Amino acid sequence: MKKHILILLLAIFPAISFAASSAHLDTAPIDIHDKDSIKRGAKTFADYCYSCHSAGFMRFNRIAKDMDMSDDEIREMMIFTRDKKGEVTKVGDLMNVAMSTDYAKGAFGGPVPDLSLTARSRGANWLYTYLRTFYADEGRPSGMNNTTFPDVGMPHVLWEQQGIKKPVYVTEEHAGVSVKRIESFDTVQAGSMTEEEYDAFVADLVNFMVYVAEPVQVERRELGVYVLIYLAIFFVFAYLLKKEYWKDVH
Ligand code: HEC
Repeated sequence: MKKHILILLLAIFPAISFAASSAHLDTAPIDIHDKDSIKRGAKTFADYCYSCHSAGFMRFNRIAKDMDMSDDEIREMMIFTRDKKGEVTKVGDLMNVAMSTDYAKGAFGGPVPDLSLTARSRGANWLYTYLRTFYADEGRPSGMNNTTFPDVGMPHVLWEQQGIKKPVYVTEEHAGVSVKRIESFDTVQAGSMTEEEYDAFVADLVNFMVYVAEPVQVERRELGVYVLIYLAIFFVFAYLLKKEYWKDVH
């Protein structure tokens, strides 16, 4: 009995230590079936993120097809750029940005990551939290820092919507060492949106990024249900056939 408890403890120990080490993440209120939300997110992505970040595994006309839009509609909504050769971006093009890696290194201290798969590598909750936890920090080159991604190279591009927050620190004693910790935030400059509006705005953007990271996921899940139904029906026939084959053996 004691041995069982020990094994159980060992099995859950990594989960406990992992949970303890990761920062608190808010749950992203997203619905991958909500095409209007994904469209709003796509527009935000084109307006505020695509100037730096590519989503190089995605094509504009794929978004148009999945969101029931025409090529003209998608062009009007999200294509404002030229490619690296200076030609106007076409609807069939991949969502690559024209910014060179050298320029990004000079401006932000490193390359700007492609965001095609970030919703899968980081998770939707991480993205939703990250985009809402920027705060003013004079020690950083962009004047901004982030509690979810400390010392991030990215400026707070959505500050006009969210406003600017300043951290309120508390000093705590841990084993004789005093540690400064952020306790809460004060708004130093109000944004154009209320907190609820900003949360919904970010949720749409995250919904779009989750869609981009796996465009077929809705289809895949629906297909999965049919496959399971098929297997359930097939099981009956397989079982009857097995009985038929084995009936003379015993
Ligand atoms: C001015 C250029 C710029 C813009 C605009 C910009 N970013 Fe960034 N972003 C960066 C840079 C640079 C990094 C890399 C930060 C680092 O590694 O320190 C980054 C990192 C990120 C990361 C972390 C990726 C990872 O897995 O490490 C995410 C997520 C992200 N950006 C999302 C966005 C979203 C969403 C938008 C639009 C609202 C946006 N960014 C707009 C420059 C930008």
